[in-house]
Amino acid sequence: MSFPTIHILVATTSGNTEYLADEVAALLEQQGLTSVMHYEPSYSELITEVTDQSIWLCCVASHGAGEYGDSMLDFSEQLSQQKPNLSPLKYAVIAVGDSCYDTYCQAGKDCDAMLQLLGATKLLDRLEIDMSCDDPIEKSSTWLPYFIQAL
Ligand SMILES: Cc1cc2nc3c(=O)[nH]c(=O)nc-3n(C[C@H](O)[C@H](O)[C@H](O)COP(=O)(O)O)c2cc1C
Repeated sequence: MSFPTIHILVATTSGNTEYLADEVAALLEQQGLTSVMHYEPSYSELITEVTDQSIWLCCVASHGAGEYGDSMLDFSEQLSQQKPNLSPLKYAVIAVGDSCYDTYCQAGKDCDAMLQLLGATKLLDRLEIDMSCDDPIEKSSTWLPYFIQAL
């Protein structure tokens, strides 16, 4: 059975989520899955390429008062302004944050809500990683088999 390519979109400011996304890509590769990294997701590139084979795995850190990490700020603003029809798309979200903030994992939650609003299909429930107490790689390794199963 062959799987389509997984596009990994990264929202990071200080690099933790980029590191995690790289580890996630390596874990996917170990399972025979191909991924393409988008460290600064390009709206025009990603939206033009959406087909019914498209899968996005959004790895989203929260910053500010629940804002997206810097690398995905432009992309998220364009998504919410232009509201493209994403009904062919399947996606999942890994939200990275710290539970000491009232806006815990807010950007990941917003990303999830936005993609659903635009008609995309959620493959499985969002993974939330609390950097104050979780081991991000361990938690992702437990979640990824369910993601793969849902593809
Ligand atoms: C200035 C600042 C603001 C933050 N704001 C939030 C927030 O609103 N919600 C949250 O869950 N985590 C927040 N965090 C925690 C970050 O999400 C966490 O440190 C994460 O590992 C950063 O990922 P990154 O290195 O990929 O940017 C904040 C961290 C900093 C330094």
